[in-house]
Amino acid sequence: MTAPIAVIVGTLGAQGSSVLSALLENQPHYKIRALTSNATSPDAIRLANSNPKVEVLQTDLSSPNSLLEAFTGASIIFANTVFRPDVFLSQGAAAAEELEASHGLNIVHAASKVASTLQHFIWSTLPDAEGITAGKYKIPHFQSKIPAERYLLDPANGLVDKTTFLRVGMYGSNLVRDPYKPSFVEEQVKYIMTLPCSPSARIPFVGSETPNIGLIVDAIIRQPGKTMGKYVLGVSEHLTAGGWAAALSAASNVDVAFLETSLEDYERRWGPIGTEIGLMFKLIEELGQGSFTAGVHASLIVTPEDLGVQGLLHSSEDRLREFRWEEILG
Ligand SMILES: NC(=O)c1ccc[n+]([C@@H]2O[C@H](COP(=O)([O-])OP(=O)(O)OC[C@H]3O[C@@H](n4cnc5c(N)ncnc54)[C@H](OP(=O)(O)O)[C@@H]3O)[C@@H](O)[C@H]2O)c1
Ligand SMILES: *[C@@H]1O[C@H](CO)[C@@H](O)[C@H](O)[C@H]1NC(C)=O
Repeated sequence: MTAPIAVIVGTLGAQGSSVLSALLENQPHYKIRALTSNATSPDAIRLANSNPKVEVLQTDLSSPNSLLEAFTGASIIFANTVFRPDVFLSQGAAAAEELEASHGLNIVHAASKVASTLQHFIWSTLPDAEGITAGKYKIPHFQSKIPAERYLLDPANGLVDKTTFLRVGMYGSNLVRDPYKPSFVEEQVKYIMTLPCSPSARIPFVGSETPNIGLIVDAIIRQPGKTMGKYVLGVSEHLTAGGWAAALSAASNVDVAFLETSLEDYERRWGPIGTEIGLMFKLIEELGQGSFTAGVHASLIVTPEDLGVQGLLHSSEDRLREFRWEEILG
């Protein structure tokens, strides 16, 4: 008997690499087809030589034929798309949204063509902020994931009953880079982290993105009866912004405090990336604790607790302990 094939789209990214590790560890009967845009990059070569169960396949997400080849024979597909920072910086948010949306659509179109072997499709996504708020919050890196979701939800496309939507919460590690990274404020003699949200807003975190995303996806694959056609909340904890700063203080032994700022000031400070990130925090504040399940019927929501993996997940603070903060904060 030939081994079933699990395809991972974006294997070298934070999400894909977490899924890869979890499947290799917990589901050794799968052969993994690991997709990357560049099979000759050092990371791709390292991966190709790491394990005979892993086949690295160079795939062009802009090419339907390339994706069809990549998906042929697949039993499982985990797909995550990227709101490309290089495109965002050079061409703007609309271009990055359009590119990511087109990749997502190419992926789901190709998945629908391999329906005869495909058993389970897992789509990493974010809430349809624009839809939930009747147009008030249009966040390009959220909306870029929605055209594929709509295609998957349409029963005519034959995938809805074998799809799990995974709404991935904030990575605990985001504090390592701008615009999240705390800065030293002379007058206060401490590091300050600013976000345009109230100190009491409950922010959904996946926690430590590696290993958590892989652990949750592994649980999704093991429990198809509970997860197909459902929305899995990729959230291990809710923290306030102050709680996130406190987690960094505990992990780094540096005193970090949170200071609320206005969206206008945040945008003035950070430009377009400030708008992108700032609007997300305004949305989270406005929708409250259920922000990442907003718009989804309660009967369709599945939590890590429901899947029995909550106890295995690692916190944002755990993730923050993995960095060398004296170097990052300077
Ligand atoms: N940060 C968060 O808190 C958070 C939370 C939830 C969801 N998300 C979503 O997660 C997605 C990102 O996924 P991730 O964290 O797994 O990605 P990541 O670690 O940033 O990986 C980026 C991948 O994108 C590909 N890529 C191709 N060209 C690139 C370029 N010029 N610059 C950067 N990357 C390039 C690479 O894959 P190849 O091997 O194919 O080249 C690379 O492995 C985003 O769309 C974001 O909206 C993020
Ligand atoms: C792929 O990676 C190799 C090795 O790093 C690099 O030389 C090449 O330019 C990359 N190709 C693309 C299309 O980015």
